[in-house]
Amino acid sequence: MSAPADILTCADLAIGHGQVVVMDRLSFSLAAGKILAVVGPSGCGKSTLMRALGGLDEPLGGRSTLMGVDLHATHGEERAAILRRTGFLFQGAALFSSLTLRENIEMPMREFLAAPRKEIRQLAEYKLSLVGLADAMDKLPSEISGGMAKRAGIARAMALDPDLIFLDEPSAGLDPMSSGRLDELILRLREAFGTTVVLVSHEVPSILRTADFCVYLDPDTGTMGAYGSPKSFLQAGNSPKAHAFFTQARID
Ligand SMILES: Nc1ncnc2c1ncn2[C@@H]1O[C@H](COP(=O)(O)OP(=O)(O)OP(=O)(O)O)[C@@H](O)[C@H]1O
Ligand SMILES: [Mg+2]
Repeated sequence: MSAPADILTCADLAIGHGQVVVMDRLSFSLAAGKILAVVGPSGCGKSTLMRALGGLDEPLGGRSTLMGVDLHATHGEERAAILRRTGFLFQGAALFSSLTLRENIEMPMREFLAAPRKEIRQLAEYKLSLVGLADAMDKLPSEISGGMAKRAGIARAMALDPDLIFLDEPSAGLDPMSSGRLDELILRLREAFGTTVVLVSHEVPSILRTADFCVYLDPDTGTMGAYGSPKSFLQAGNSPKAHAFFTQARID
């Protein structure tokens, strides 16, 4: 049996905004069903990388693929079909404030699934119950806590049963208990649906619990400083900066 294909690859990728390159020479890949954590100091380009990998922004150079397809050279229905197989939790959850949680989850379903209203409602309820929000379906985003908003955002990212989800700081601002529950949720989603996950996190315990691989973005060199397992980042000698990030040590 052949090894599972990489669901995501990038080769010599350059990312940024307008003419400004934030990171370049990014080359790594991720097999289906794995969890990758993107780490690095604030402002180093983690969100920018997620958006480029997810096809939301164009890269400034190089190449990246999703599900074997070079998204940036693919247009129209073929591109839309690939994007429908991915879900996105934006930094800050970005729920529609005038819609209830259920309506937030129903929205992508209504747009893309040719299913009757009742079925969509049931599917949305199922997705919300998966993330422990069965009792909060009719609440507005302003009526729920930050942790609940993150979970609702994950339910929306999972609305169309994606093969790959991008989670930008799913546990930022949560207390350790809520953050631990969110880690379990991410692991359960991977277990139940085989979903591949790319996430951004600053929380080392959470990364150690969930991620199979980490990529460290180094703002000093403008490229990736290390790629490997979270455990390898804990060992000195791999990459001093990634190691310092993981052990919170100072490097001067
Ligand atoms: N829409 C934008 N237009 C122009 N520049 C941007 C835009 N978004 C981000 N930047 C810049 O790109 C760089 C990387 O930002 P990005 O948001 O990717 O960092 P980050 O690693 O996600 O940071 P944080 O940990 O604070 O979320 C920063 O210098 C930022 O100011
Ligand atoms: Mg960010």
